Amino acid sequence: MTYGFRVVANPLVGTLDAGADPGADPGADPGAWGASPTADVLAFHRRLPGYAATPLLSLPGVAARLGVGELVAKCESVRFGLPAFKMLGASWATYRALCARLGGEAQLGEWHDMDDLSRLVKPLLPFRLAAATDGNHGRAVARMARWLGFEARIFVPATTTQARIDAIGSEGAEVVVVDGGYDDVVTRSAREEGRRCLVISDTSWPGYADVPRWVIEGYATLFAEIDDAFGRSSRRRPDVVVVPIGVGALAAATVRHFGSDAAVIGVEPTDAACVTASALAGRPITLAGEQRSIMAGLNCGTPSPVAWPVVSRGLAGFVTIDDDWARDAVRTFACCGVEAGETGAAALGGLTALVRQGRASALGDLVHERSSVLVLVTEGASDQPAWRKILGTELVGG
Ligand SMILES: Cc1ncc(COP(=O)(O)O)c(C=O)c1O
Repeated sequence: MTYGFRVVANPLVGTLDAGADPGADPGADPGAWGASPTADVLAFHRRLPGYAATPLLSLPGVAARLGVGELVAKCESVRFGLPAFKMLGASWATYRALCARLGGEAQLGEWHDMDDLSRLVKPLLPFRLAAATDGNHGRAVARMARWLGFEARIFVPATTTQARIDAIGSEGAEVVVVDGGYDDVVTRSAREEGRRCLVISDTSWPGYADVPRWVIEGYATLFAEIDDAFGRSSRRRPDVVVVPIGVGALAAATVRHFGSDAAVIGVEPTDAACVTASALAGRPITLAGEQRSIMAGLNCGTPSPVAWPVVSRGLAGFVTIDDDWARDAVRTFACCGVEAGETGAAALGGLTALVRQGRASALGDLVHERSSVLVLVTEGASDQPAWRKILGTELVGG
């Protein structure tokens, strides 16, 4: 059985600080980023309930099968008790947006834990957080709202599975199903912003760039943990990093962290490959139609304008994959004792397709018997029934 995929070297690859992209929102100028606040972000996350660094696992058997020197997986199956990495960005962005609302961090006052923080934001009540989501980001925003004593209104596309809707609802959020795809949901959620409501979006639009930039900043903790784990082990640091792409926020954080130290490869579903299509077009474009991949977190039709200037110049290339690559990767991870959902397994699916394509192909020279590859496993079984169904089927494709 052969599964569809495509490997694309990034035609826009170049320096990271080469000025704003003409197709992007002016607020998305890379110059607006400033220095990375990793220490502040990490200190913030450490004050949240249940903070713990997620595991960095070596997978020598899978590395041998793929013919790469080393394969290491950063596993986000459980993050603050939720099954995805998304809380890192949602919590930091919410915090920064609240500080801005209240006149600055100094105005907010000193706090040590979530009880303190929720007391400090009490004057805002009644207050609500709103977000658009394919599942994980919205659930994280809903959790943050619950911790702070706020309400949450989370908008999801009509294709969202009941398990994902229920998971968001279990955080106490009102879930609003929007007729349309992710882009329609984002447009709908943007209307919620007001005196008693903050919109916490992981993608940007003209005039709305700060919050999505803070979401990207929030992912710095994941990379600080990776550095720490590599620093404490004898493992070689990665020279290739493979990351799943939805709107490109996580990929932007990856590129910002690794810079020229590693080649960063993005993985997208075949029919939701908006960043790949944009790179080929030389400017951000919106895909026609709806995106219906089982890699639900990657079902996005438009790159985030804030992420675009970073990913368009910083990614080495892309692998676009059919859903069956993700299914196989879910099973491979499960055989190694790693719980990875369909979106979470996408990076390994893309890496497997890339290796299958061979050395002579685009990007093929990056993955070989001496390379050290890091895959970001961004999600556990966030849709349990779907995950179990995949594990219950026969392993095909190899
Ligand atoms: C589990 C998971 N992985 C990866 C992504 C992609 O992240 P981004 O949209 O920042 O590209 C998402 C987005 O929702 C996700 O939920």
